Amino acid sequence: MNHPAMQGLDSMGLNTPAYVKNAKLVAWVADMVALCQPDDVYWCDGSDAEYQRLCQQLVAAGTFKKLNEAKRPNSFLAQSDPSDVARVEDRTYICSAKKEDAGPTNNWMAPAEMRATLQPLFDGCMRGRTLYVVPFSMGPLGSPIAHIGIELSDSPYVAVNMKIMTRMGRPVFEVLGVNGDFVPCVHTVGAPLAAGQADVKWPCNKTKYIVHYPETREIWSYGSGYGGNALLGKKCFALRIASNMGRDEGWLAEHMLILGVTNPQGKKYHVAAAFPSACGKTNFSMLVPPAGFEGWKVTTIGDDIAWIKPAADGKLYAINPEAGYFGVAPGTNTLTNPNCMASLDRDVIFTNVALTDDGDVWWEGMEKDSGVTPAHLIDWQGKDWTPQIAKETGAKAAHPNARFTVAATNNPALDSAWDDPKGVAIDAFIFGGRRSTTVPLVTEARNWIEGVYMAATMGSETTAAATGQAGVVRRDPFAMLPFMGYNMSDYFQHWLTLGEKLAASGATLPKIYTTNWFRKGADGKFVWPGYGENMRVLKWMIDRIEGSSDISQGEEHFTGVSPRYEDLNWTGLDFSAEQFATVTRMDTRDWRQELALHSELFQQLAYHLPKELGETKAALEQRLAA
Ligand code: OXD
Ligand code: MN
Repeated sequence: MNHPAMQGLDSMGLNTPAYVKNAKLVAWVADMVALCQPDDVYWCDGSDAEYQRLCQQLVAAGTFKKLNEAKRPNSFLAQSDPSDVARVEDRTYICSAKKEDAGPTNNWMAPAEMRATLQPLFDGCMRGRTLYVVPFSMGPLGSPIAHIGIELSDSPYVAVNMKIMTRMGRPVFEVLGVNGDFVPCVHTVGAPLAAGQADVKWPCNKTKYIVHYPETREIWSYGSGYGGNALLGKKCFALRIASNMGRDEGWLAEHMLILGVTNPQGKKYHVAAAFPSACGKTNFSMLVPPAGFEGWKVTTIGDDIAWIKPAADGKLYAINPEAGYFGVAPGTNTLTNPNCMASLDRDVIFTNVALTDDGDVWWEGMEKDSGVTPAHLIDWQGKDWTPQIAKETGAKAAHPNARFTVAATNNPALDSAWDDPKGVAIDAFIFGGRRSTTVPLVTEARNWIEGVYMAATMGSETTAAATGQAGVVRRDPFAMLPFMGYNMSDYFQHWLTLGEKLAASGATLPKIYTTNWFRKGADGKFVWPGYGENMRVLKWMIDRIEGSSDISQGEEHFTGVSPRYEDLNWTGLDFSAEQFATVTRMDTRDWRQELALHSELFQQLAYHLPKELGETKAALEQRLAA
């Protein structure tokens, strides 16, 4: 090995531990050190002692506030720069060699042009800072379905979050060995420090780039320290880069929770569900069955991302590539998600929630637990907050996209197979948008192609998880719009091809459902109670799986099969047939408009759009006209 990095590591200032044997990795770190020019290089070992040390360092820097140890042990609060609070979709690029391979739903720039743009930004970008080498495995360490990434970041906040969100640390280097492959991920907050310059508590840069090179499987992130912009294992790797791997290798990387549901007889099913960001994936994955469902159990395998691979038995097996939850805090309470609240009792990093006077955290929605709103808080921007100020100015105590980072192992409803390298066999897929009107509570697709059509045309009202206007309906195919690493229509084809292959092998394909928990009544309020009550819908799906093609547990209509009022178990819930009609009614005029929007989407996605989807739309239009 001629690379200077392997000739004299210490003289290069790389601090490479003796146990790191991968020449390609060391060469790459040397190149990135030469480019970014950090003052120091630190290789994370992933130990608890290291986590504590880095957290203390973040406290000393003012980035973290240590929470009251008696109320919230081993937990910290970070409050970000107000300009750096969410994923930046307009700054996110898929830089494939050909523009058409990124497709019309992604920002694209030619790789050479993007490299030329990023070069001066990364040149010296870590001056005055430490470069953290963060080794991580997406999926159980050493599992044949897991993949390794190495993130180089100048943010210790990223290093400690990655410790929770992934299998991070020294054992990764053992799996990597001498020749193992990894996805290189470079991240900088883009805020070099001149000699003697004091740091700010949340360094970042107004200029932001979140860049993926799918062919070379690289990720480069500049200017943001927040969430999916900076924790590169999550959206960048596990969805955008992994979707490319999945297309090439015949598997799926999906924006899906995975749950286990066990009936009173002990029979277990597995469901993977895609909902757009901040539409309750974490809640659904930790659902507590309500009254009327005694003996039923729901357990969490994952809350955000699923990697799904066909196995020799013809089934689709899913793993959660992550090891923790980076969930939206506001709205979470013991009524909406008791398991999540229990997970947050200790060992949590909170970002952009409010601080109570006794050193604990608070966010909007918590008042539903205690019945009281605190008289005084420090809001997510570090300002005084009182209910009166909120009334007068509308100021939120917590940012609507405030987050918690917590290990999966804190979850009392964690599935015993969550870490199983084999994964779990999927019985059903759910796709669920946030729609005030039009889309009924639940529909079962008649077949795989119609299911793919429903997923492909899914619309949802936008939320605070990305910057931009909230509450506008946008098409969000498969809940993957912000996370698709290649041309969307090729992705639809990938799903169709997978279904075709499985069917040809004689396999029983998972059923496909769409749900909408968010229909509103004439008063503008949600009609469906949601949360644990979604169990009623889940149980109907399982009845359907058991009953196979028997449609006595439902009624066929022009988009598929939905339950009648009498098909759901209503024990323990006061929900009238009239209310049920409000959340299930399908208005012909609404659906004409809806199909017109599908046409618009298909025009946008015309390049490589599978012909089956156009045919399905034509058949829907005919059925609607009839
Ligand atoms: C997330 C998101 O953070 O989807 O999971 O935005
Ligand atoms: Mn998500």
